Amino acid sequence: MLPVTLARFLVEAERKNPAVSADLRFLVEVVSRACKAISIAIGKGSLADVLGGAGSDNIQGEAQKKLDVISNEILLDANEWGGHLAAMASEEMDGPHQIPRRYPKGEFLLVFDPLDGSSNIDVNISVGTIFSVLRCPEGAGDVGEQAFLQPGTQQVCAGFAVYGPSTLLVLTLGDGVKCFTLDREYGHFVLTQENMRIPDDTKEFAINMSNQRFWEPPVQRYVGELLAGKDGPRGQDFNMRWVASMVADVFRILTRGGVFMYPVDSRTKDKGGKLRLMYEANPMAMIVEQAGGRATTGRERILDIQPTKLHQRVPVILGSKNEVERVSAYHRG
Ligand code: AHG
Ligand code: MN
Ligand code: MN
Repeated sequence: MLPVTLARFLVEAERKNPAVSADLRFLVEVVSRACKAISIAIGKGSLADVLGGAGSDNIQGEAQKKLDVISNEILLDANEWGGHLAAMASEEMDGPHQIPRRYPKGEFLLVFDPLDGSSNIDVNISVGTIFSVLRCPEGAGDVGEQAFLQPGTQQVCAGFAVYGPSTLLVLTLGDGVKCFTLDREYGHFVLTQENMRIPDDTKEFAINMSNQRFWEPPVQRYVGELLAGKDGPRGQDFNMRWVASMVADVFRILTRGGVFMYPVDSRTKDKGGKLRLMYEANPMAMIVEQAGGRATTGRERILDIQPTKLHQRVPVILGSKNEVERVSAYHRG
């Protein structure tokens, strides 16, 4: 039998599921095409002079890499003309990006982190793209920031690409989590995992240990117990992994379980955390929950947060259900 391409998967999803409209199907296809283009640009590396800094800062004061800017442009160009979007927003832009007046507008809002893990670009480690799809509230004219400020439970679709040894697209339409692998010879994504499930238990954790002295007591306690291993209260050894690309860490957790933490700490308390709610935490939380895992700030479910700002930051603890619940219990205790 021929492999199931993303295009075929989406047509069949539209037939089966009334929540999947032709416009949503088109949107996912367009985003996947943009991810293919980003994958090609990343793959060329130094040959195409795409590595290194862009010489500019984004709204959050972070130095932009050339590939942050290129990936943002690719996603904007791909998504402007199709008539499926009302507006877009991204890590790399201060405010909403309007659909040019020469094109029709659609019902969806697309929010993205065009290149996640950009500190890894120049050292040839996996990076990715994260995206979230919301419905645009009714109303004519330009779409303001307010339209985007919807809790993660309102997402109609979320996904991410990983540009690693293979290029992958992980997708949820609110009905489980699928993984597609880019077939470079044929140029299309092929369904390679139909029902990704995160094991409830794990012996693996992911956190940037260099921030340990800034953590709050519940995280100190939890990680302290993991590090104590067999000799501590958990009575078993735990292994640690930290790629510093959330896409790669979350993909590993979707594959074999684990817990990923970027908690709030004394350095990031004023900002609310490090990772961004709208285009990192929310889409990843939807995917993780759809795969049977949990995603919390430690104090509340990420998907329930009512956003107040487009670039709002939040603490993120996600992955295997029983470990995430334990971290939450330590926060309550
Ligand atoms: P981005 O490259 O989009 O700014 O995101 C990077 C994020 C995330 O992918 C990763 O888990 C984390 O930042 C790494 O942070 P540290 O460098 O502090 O470990
Ligand atoms: Mn990111
Ligand atoms: Mn980014």
